[in-house]
Amino acid sequence: MKPRRRVGVLISGRGSNMMALVEAARAPDYPAEIVCVASNRPAAAGLAWAHEQGIAAHAVDHKAYATREAFEEALHAVLEGQGVEMVACAGFMRLMTPGFVARWAGRMINIHPSLLPLYPGLHTHARAIADGVRIAGCTVHYVVAEMDAGPIIAQGAVPVIDGDTPDSLADRILHLEHVIYPRALALVASGTARLENERVNILSDVNQSGRLISPDVGGSS
Ligand code: GRF
Repeated sequence: MKPRRRVGVLISGRGSNMMALVEAARAPDYPAEIVCVASNRPAAAGLAWAHEQGIAAHAVDHKAYATREAFEEALHAVLEGQGVEMVACAGFMRLMTPGFVARWAGRMINIHPSLLPLYPGLHTHARAIADGVRIAGCTVHYVVAEMDAGPIIAQGAVPVIDGDTPDSLADRILHLEHVIYPRALALVASGTARLENERVNILSDVNQSGRLISPDVGGSS
């Protein structure tokens, strides 16, 4: 069996996506292992959870550093110290400098709660509801210098239902995030998803039959 890719996860808060990655990586045939979790917020609930699981859990408090570069240097040292080969951002709420992004170019991925390129940035669920879109979702993508941009690895979609609030839509999407992030990381770690000329190629047969119609009423075909 191929050696598993050593992955470090960056979080800032509750860490439910990180937990989904850790749980998935418990399978012996999963192509990646989560070797450390780092948070810029020492009190992040996800950091305590990771520690309880016996995973190296590092607080790198951005407030303890005079500059963004100094903070990133410390974060980089943690990742290097753990022999991390790939970084998965999971609710990591710090903007990254182009220098840090360049160091991990092609080796750093992120999950975002919208169907990118729609709704980069914050308040994605409220913006989707305000626009009246019928389908929303989440995206796993490579990290590039521009925020919430970068080659798309995987997306998942859910219906937006009349009466949805930002919270109810966020819940529905979050469940799907927990499904697609482990899948996307596996695709990348196994080499099935390859970054070539700023696009992601999937070197595998894909099921072409999936579809989501929203609102799914009144149709028979
Ligand atoms: C998720 O919705 C993720 O897509 C976004 O921030 C949220 C983090 O949630 N980037 P969690 O910390 O993984 O629970």
